[in-house]
Amino acid sequence: MNDKNNKVVLIVGLGMIGGSIACGLKKAKPERRIIACDRDAQALQNAIDDGVIAECGELSALCPQADIIILAVPPLTVCELLPEVLKHMKSTAIITDVASVKSHIFTSSAQFSEEALAKFVPAHPIAGSEQSGYAAAVDDLFENRNVILTPHSGNSTDSVATINGLWRELGANVLGMTRVRHDEVLAATSHLPHLLAYAIVDVLLKQEQSEDIFRYAAGGFADFSRLASSDAKMWSDIFVANSAAVEKVLDDYIQSLLDFKKAIQKKEHVKLQESFETAKQTREKFISQHFKPKKQEEMISNKLSFSVQPGGQVAGTIRVAGDKSISHRSIILASIADGITRVTGFLEGEDALNTVAAFREMGVTIVGPENGELTIYGVGKNGLQAPRKPLYMGNSGTAMRLLAGLLAAQSFNSELTGDESLMERPMNRVAGPLRSMGANIDTGDSGTPPLAIRGSKLQGFTYEMPIASAQVKSCLLLAGLYAEGETKILEPAPCRDHTERMLQGFGYKVAVDAEEGSSAVSGGAELKATEIDVPADISSAAFFLVAAAITPGSDLTLQHVGVNPTRIGVINILREMGASIESSNERLVGGEPVADLRVRYQPLKGIVISEAEIPLAIDEFPVLFVAAACAEGETLLHGAEELRVKESDRIDAMAQGLKKLGVVVETFDDGIRIVGGDMGGGAVDSFGDHRIAMAFTVAGLRSESPIDIANCANVATSFPNFVELASEVGMRVSALK
Ligand code: S3P
Repeated sequence: MNDKNNKVVLIVGLGMIGGSIACGLKKAKPERRIIACDRDAQALQNAIDDGVIAECGELSALCPQADIIILAVPPLTVCELLPEVLKHMKSTAIITDVASVKSHIFTSSAQFSEEALAKFVPAHPIAGSEQSGYAAAVDDLFENRNVILTPHSGNSTDSVATINGLWRELGANVLGMTRVRHDEVLAATSHLPHLLAYAIVDVLLKQEQSEDIFRYAAGGFADFSRLASSDAKMWSDIFVANSAAVEKVLDDYIQSLLDFKKAIQKKEHVKLQESFETAKQTREKFISQHFKPKKQEEMISNKLSFSVQPGGQVAGTIRVAGDKSISHRSIILASIADGITRVTGFLEGEDALNTVAAFREMGVTIVGPENGELTIYGVGKNGLQAPRKPLYMGNSGTAMRLLAGLLAAQSFNSELTGDESLMERPMNRVAGPLRSMGANIDTGDSGTPPLAIRGSKLQGFTYEMPIASAQVKSCLLLAGLYAEGETKILEPAPCRDHTERMLQGFGYKVAVDAEEGSSAVSGGAELKATEIDVPADISSAAFFLVAAAITPGSDLTLQHVGVNPTRIGVINILREMGASIESSNERLVGGEPVADLRVRYQPLKGIVISEAEIPLAIDEFPVLFVAAACAEGETLLHGAEELRVKESDRIDAMAQGLKKLGVVVETFDDGIRIVGGDMGGGAVDSFGDHRIAMAFTVAGLRSESPIDIANCANVATSFPNFVELASEVGMRVSALK
């Protein structure tokens, strides 16, 4: 009677949240059978009268009917009810909850067995208000609201996908977190404010003549104390269940109050004003980013600039951020794999986070990232859901091109958009060959995004790439996973092969013929979940390799750098220029070669860069141009027209900036000539290109006066902690808003 898509849902607790779930699910699928229990008989009767629930009764009687059991009760009641639910439910049923605390169930004295907990997929909708009861329930409470799942190692991907799908039906955005992180975050952002609201009412209540005080209390009191109207049982439960995390943040708050008290006693007007100003700005930023979402394109602010003082040192041992190419691919492949993939070393930069958001939008449950760790509950090759809105790829050409291949082969339609820079970048290089496979893709004018993709059945083919592009190759290989027959891509020169390596890590056969320069996959097989350790990004390490190579007295070690042979052009070129780079501790991590690199200063000389190195150093040229400016003699590059269609026209952007610093530069359609010599300072523009911004920061080590770099916000796309790490090793850079 109940097919896979028409599961019986039991809601335990028909208050505002439980009632809203019931109303929303009924609206989404009127034929669905929803049953409920609650202590409030009137609420149940009202829900029956509304046609929202079909039946009500005792928990023990309703449990055996249900496929999904939602415990919409306070946190401690979840622990109390679980044993009874587990006793009466069908063995195939899944339990979830809505509680605002997630760890306590796992540490509860009830000691649930692992087997029992495997059936329980915890969830927490970040929705609701101070109102309570079924009377406050509405069918759209969760639309566009975040719901946090905190699945655990015992959960199956199927049960997680079922609960994800349930919230998706209610219009929610499903996020994932570990339960520990969830409880810390909620303690600070939700539990603490509630406690403060209860406390202020309590303080006023205990004042003499409190009646009088309340009479005069105006908007400030009403605003601040609104949360004190929340359900008392629920909130006392929350504080007991999350006592450790709340205590920690409460200590911080008490300290902050004591600091304010001291400043008030000492009449420190300026100090108070400064603190209030910072708080005001922080709150306004938060409200504008999270409560009045503008069009995403407008959210990328280019207001950040870098101010670099001349000179500085480069010494120490650091590990730079995770590899961007591998981070994107880890999300893409783990999402369409069967099983649970754990990723460590993930780059928490905006580009990779947009890829995470895109797969979440397609129904994949992704926990994290937290300190570079992610857990992805793969939905299998055909398990992605149609996105409900255009997928925003931010600044990332890689994400847009790789996703184009994957999405072209799905059974649903989709649209890919990006920021101002991405909307200018050429997409025909993927749209053209994908169309030859049978894909249905429209680009914007002149072959630029947005990409409107209608999912189609694809046919394998052989394609000779006119340019050595790993993005094009990867796009077509991803499409090839779904195509009929073999998809074989021939490259004119070796370019990064992370897709091939990672596919093999996921158990997917890839035929690589190095001699022919080809990679091929056949459609139809499945990917199996795996573990991925993302190495540090050699493209981010490159800024530090050059920094140490051009700075007298430097001695820097970069740990765990990915040294895949298709990425080491920067090392080859710098060594040819005379740099001292030692590689040690070489090892293979999850199919990718990794090493520690030690760089010490040695004078550089200009060279003619071999064209064979171009694809192997494609992202590192901005900073290599800085190395060239610091070398003796001239450096010549030809055959690199691709640099003109990256996040900016990197030949022009670098030439303009270097000229401002007094460097002699000549540009060609396909390259550049740079004459090494002294560098002055001045104002340069990164044109919103992360790598240009970081390259000019490195130039400051050898410039004679300060360098101001405009439009640096996009450094966050690939290297969010660049300024901190650069400062740590001795560079003199500060970020100015
Ligand atoms: C990338 C490939 C390169 C590179 C980009 C990342 C990838 O682009 O510039 O930053 O992850 O495949 P092309 O393949 O277009 O040269």
